[in-house]
Amino acid sequence: MPRRQLFVTTALPYANANFHIGHIMEYTQADIWVRFQRLQGHEVHFVCADDAHGAPIMIAAEKAGLTPQAFVANIAAGRKPYLDGFHIAFDHWHSTDAPENHALSQDVYRKLRDAGLIEVRAIEQFFDPAKGMFLPDRFIKGECPKCGAKDQYGDSCEVCGAVYAPTEVKNPYSVLSGATPVLKTSDHHFFKLSDPRCKQFLEQWTHEAGRLQPEVLNKIKEWFTPTEDGTGGLGDWDISRDAPYFGIEIPDAPGKYFYVWLDAPIGYLASLTGHFAKLGKDVNAFLADPATEQVHFIGKDITYFHTLFWPAMLHFSGRKTPDRVYVHGFLTVNAEKMSKSRGTGIDPLRYLELGLDAEWLRYYLAAKLNDRVEDLDFNPEDFIARVNSDLVGKYINIASRAAGFLAKRFEGQLSATLGVDGEAVIAKLQAAAPGLAALYDGREFGKALREIMGLADAVNEYVDAHKPWELAKKPDAAVELHEACSTCIEAFRLLTLYLKPVLPALSAKVEAFLQVAPLTWADASARLGAHAIGAFQHLMQRVTTEQVEALFTKPEPPAPVPGGEPIAAEITIDDFVKPDLRIAKIVKAERVEGSTKLLRLTLDAGEGRTRNVFSGIAGAYKPEDLEGKLTVLVANLAPRKMKFGVSEGMVLAASHADEKAVPGVFVLEPHAGAQPGMRIR
Ligand code: 2FM
Ligand code: ZN
Repeated sequence: MPRRQLFVTTALPYANANFHIGHIMEYTQADIWVRFQRLQGHEVHFVCADDAHGAPIMIAAEKAGLTPQAFVANIAAGRKPYLDGFHIAFDHWHSTDAPENHALSQDVYRKLRDAGLIEVRAIEQFFDPAKGMFLPDRFIKGECPKCGAKDQYGDSCEVCGAVYAPTEVKNPYSVLSGATPVLKTSDHHFFKLSDPRCKQFLEQWTHEAGRLQPEVLNKIKEWFTPTEDGTGGLGDWDISRDAPYFGIEIPDAPGKYFYVWLDAPIGYLASLTGHFAKLGKDVNAFLADPATEQVHFIGKDITYFHTLFWPAMLHFSGRKTPDRVYVHGFLTVNAEKMSKSRGTGIDPLRYLELGLDAEWLRYYLAAKLNDRVEDLDFNPEDFIARVNSDLVGKYINIASRAAGFLAKRFEGQLSATLGVDGEAVIAKLQAAAPGLAALYDGREFGKALREIMGLADAVNEYVDAHKPWELAKKPDAAVELHEACSTCIEAFRLLTLYLKPVLPALSAKVEAFLQVAPLTWADASARLGAHAIGAFQHLMQRVTTEQVEALFTKPEPPAPVPGGEPIAAEITIDDFVKPDLRIAKIVKAERVEGSTKLLRLTLDAGEGRTRNVFSGIAGAYKPEDLEGKLTVLVANLAPRKMKFGVSEGMVLAASHADEKAVPGVFVLEPHAGAQPGMRIR
């Protein structure tokens, strides 16, 4: 086969959180594929980046008291232990906020505009008057227009399942400030996907053989077809957002930024560009070469972006389009969809910290992966069984059964002959190489591993038939023993090669033990012959039930400390001055109808007006005991809309972490002489 030139990516993760197990699954899938292609001698450029932009990241950064750049840099700095830990070997890691991506995104946009595919239209949207920004749907809440449920998101109701426009929500409020949003008009830039040229291009592109999985193509057909009410079909795509926004500025449009999903996939090209700069190679020549194949691994939730918007953006800006988009399903744990809040997921770093072997997980995931869009489930018992009975029981044991005899009796020297049965087993293993290669290339990893385990079974049957432990006791069976053990080692070498895309670290250990150069796929047809191997070293542990249980057990809380909770992470003086703490006088304190916890406080913080603050101290104080007293107010806290009204700040109170063990809430009060409005520093 001619040497392939591959440009491979996984989806770019949002830079607002650490990796979860779903990321590790996708990266593992792509990494196995990439490693296989490399074993075949192909040229692969495997890149990724942080997806840095967008309103949620901007808001998270603000909450953390950081610039978006600093916030994203912190997340990026935490990526390495995950990638190294799970042997995920990207060639390059970039950021969509890097200069290459700014330049590329603006270039793509200009070309689309020059092609007549950008249109500017005024649209009306909810605007938060307190924050001075347009609100994405997720930042609007209110009552469901269908069932009246409170606190529902601006686009759908979690109680009755209704889907609606944010403008239909009753009593809407901004999640950011609690303020009532107002409708405001502004100009938005649209990518005209409804243009007949786009439709024609995408019809053709999506249907080209091998480009998409059949189930993905079916989904796309639905998206192409207008529904009876005249909606549906390919609509124009809103690609701009108004300032304030963390993103890339749109050329010639002050105050307008690209919507994050415009510049995110362009980040693939930016990352490749960064990678080629490091290599000192010409990225444009590489992309212009018709031999180059562009392959994206993604999850099913982002299919729309990758199979419609992305190829259209590339094509109409005069660029190469993806050759294949490989879509996978979600990873569930114990058949439950992951949820951070319920903690059913597996934390990848905790997995490593508990001493579980990364390659167990790689093997397990590979055993469950195929070329379809199906979800796959992590099941603890199944995990233990696959690791212990397949990986260790069937494969690793082949080496341990033979190595001792070879060292003790033959000084580690292999036999040049293997005997009739030995030759037959090795021939069977070697004949499997092309079929296994086709399975790996087709992402049928589960099938590949089943076949490899079938080969391991054949080797173990050979061992059971020849019984080296009995041959070792017979004075005249040295040749047979030597051949049997040499057959095992030759078979072990082949099985290791076949598992190498999945188990890179283990393979390196085996190569050292066998004293062979790093195995490549071509070594499937080679033979060790009368070769000397090294001393056997321990290769892989079995997994214990306790280890897997620990993975699902919440970590022990730290030892008790005064007040019942550990001291929070260190902050700087800059962090400390962020909350504006003021002396406030409690002018009025009242019970709140319908709440046993809250008191409504009317506070004077020397502003020439009073503030309304709800405080969870009703269990500890009678309202009349508080009136007239001074306390401490967090004066610059964003107003929060609560069931009973908007709370404009917070008063400070002390409590023990375990309020049942050490009851009581104690409101802070300054020494005599303090005046309302004084700042606390
Ligand atoms: O869904 C996500 O996590 C996105 N950050 C994926 C972006 S993929 C590519 F377009 F950058
Ligand atoms: Zn509802």
